[in-house]
Amino acid sequence: MIFYFSGTGNSLHVAESLQENEPIVDMAEALRRKKCGFRIKEGEAVGLVCPVYYSGIPKLVLEFIRHLRLKEDYSYIYLVLTHGGGPGAAGAMAERELKKRGYHLDAVYDVKMPSNYIIMGKDKDREEEDRRIRDAEPVIGDIRKAVRERRQSFPHFGMISRMMTWSMYPLCDRYMPTKKFYTDDRCIGCGVCASRCPVDCISMEDGRPVWKKNHCIRCMSCMRCNAIQYGDRIKNKRRYRYHKVESSESFPVHD
Ligand SMILES: Cc1cc2nc3c(=O)[nH]c(=O)nc-3n(C[C@H](O)[C@H](O)[C@H](O)COP(=O)(O)O)c2cc1C
Repeated sequence: MIFYFSGTGNSLHVAESLQENEPIVDMAEALRRKKCGFRIKEGEAVGLVCPVYYSGIPKLVLEFIRHLRLKEDYSYIYLVLTHGGGPGAAGAMAERELKKRGYHLDAVYDVKMPSNYIIMGKDKDREEEDRRIRDAEPVIGDIRKAVRERRQSFPHFGMISRMMTWSMYPLCDRYMPTKKFYTDDRCIGCGVCASRCPVDCISMEDGRPVWKKNHCIRCMSCMRCNAIQYGDRIKNKRRYRYHKVESSESFPVHD
């Protein structure tokens, strides 16, 4: 079984690429339905695939692990992190959380993908994005092989990575003001942003999205829509989503 969380499609793509015949489960959906108990077939591998947030694991994934109940005889638990070039010690954070729940993490893999964190830094380069996506394919292939072989693979997280994770994560994770969100006059009130939000942070009021205070995990899912602004940080910036995200996932005001 593969559990995934994905704001903009990178981790979903990796999860789907690793899938053989096993079911694939959206962690956000499982939490929403309060159904986090899963029956695993004997000998089956259990994969967790998610992005790196602030050198750590998204809050939603930590929450999922806290509620996860695996029944029966799984043989192997692995984690695949997608990131924009700095995974820090996110794997160690996941391992710690799994350990608290009595699960042993056998392997941590990572895949460098385009960064979706558009609220920081300059506009992302489309060619660089395409190059990263191409370069990721053989890496995903190697992970698929390693999982089939049930390889034990736990990277060494050095002092600097650990310091990044344990100092940056709590600071960035705590401060997530939603008051900066608004929609410009391109918003047609379609409600796709509200329906796609993995933490139900957005409600529609008078035909316009409203972000609930301190609830957002900044997954960038809604920011795929060009009508959505965050202060003046993303005005005129290209919005990121993995290019193969299904058309049904698209916003009417996308490009
Ligand atoms: C809130 C947030 C924080 C992020 N922090 C990091 C980080 O610390 N290091 C990094 O390499 N990438 C970081 N990224 C980039 C994502 O990990 C990367 O783009 C990931 O592949 C996105 O996956 P998704 O499309 O499945 O949501 C961050 C992205 C977001 C939205």
